[in-house]
Amino acid sequence: MRILGIETSCDETGVAIYDEQYGLVANQLYSQIEMHADYGGVVPELASRDHIRKTLPLVQAALEEANLIPNDIDGVAYTAGPGLVGALLVGSTIARSLAYAWDVPALGVHHMEGHLLAPMLEEKAPEFPFVALLVSGGHTQLVKVENVGKYELLGESIDDAAGEAFDKTAKLLGLDYPGGAALAKLAEKGTACRFTFPRPMTDRPGLDFSFSGLKTFAANKINANLNSEGILDEQTRCDIAHAFQQAVIDTLIIKCRRALQQTGYKRLVIAGGVSANKQLRADLAELMQQLKGEVFYPRPQFCTDNGAMIAYAGFIRLKNGEQTDLSVSVKPRWPMTELPSIIE
Ligand code: KG4
Ligand code: ZN
Repeated sequence: MRILGIETSCDETGVAIYDEQYGLVANQLYSQIEMHADYGGVVPELASRDHIRKTLPLVQAALEEANLIPNDIDGVAYTAGPGLVGALLVGSTIARSLAYAWDVPALGVHHMEGHLLAPMLEEKAPEFPFVALLVSGGHTQLVKVENVGKYELLGESIDDAAGEAFDKTAKLLGLDYPGGAALAKLAEKGTACRFTFPRPMTDRPGLDFSFSGLKTFAANKINANLNSEGILDEQTRCDIAHAFQQAVIDTLIIKCRRALQQTGYKRLVIAGGVSANKQLRADLAELMQQLKGEVFYPRPQFCTDNGAMIAYAGFIRLKNGEQTDLSVSVKPRWPMTELPSIIE
């Protein structure tokens, strides 16, 4: 079975082909980041228009990369939500139409399930069950995963997602959108202990997160440290980035430890854009060593949005006999716990 996967939920057009026998045989990605950077964030209308321009050429490129023709494709998977409604509609309409023309089934995939299953594309893939920490630009969630579709939400952010907090703080530090990775680079040059940021919601039980206060805390620190010309010196910029990043990471680690204790699981999966963060990975490795467990990640390229994770998640569910009917419907909001379990 060979599945074409199409991702268009936000600002990346991703197209990939997953082959049951050979694994991932094509992976094409176009990022709109440069286009949105001028506006300091994603402009939904521009995102939709760009997906329209890019999706079909990427489908063609993916087929060429894998040396396949449309006849070789057994199903088309596409991101049906959550995400920007216009952007989702572009991918869904194209995917649904291709499946109709090629006379193969189509399936609307949940974007966060795509992220959650992305580590399955790696050589070191996790076995079920595990705890998943999903940390992207739109979501921060801790999920108890018994199998594909057997998800229990243990906790989530009550305000900004971790990636969103990175991006907003990066903006305050004068970095372009999305500034998560650039802030992490600044943080590498920062000195520990000069500033101490709070670890929100860690002083009470529970597995929810709150990151919006950290951005305000960063804004106050920046204002308090401007020089007489209203400029933040480079070292202070790096030190604030370092303190902010460490506060987010420590908070995530404290909650991961709790989630592992609560479930009794020994395996932790981290996925979503923020899981590309090197310091987070280093600190999680240390945590899992202490807990005598194991941590699993997608390769950095598959931490952020991509078509490969959608092709893979689509493959798992299409193989299970699921498919979406002919209508094109997307779900900008879609709790992952509503997904059917593939094993009862
Ligand atoms: O999963 P993703 O590509 O898109 C969503 O589904 O939201 O995640 C993008 C988020 C952005 O907020 C970006 O700044 C953040 O992931 N990000 C990082 C790093 N790389 C990407 N945050 C911290 N450190 C990084 N190295
Ligand atoms: Zn994502």
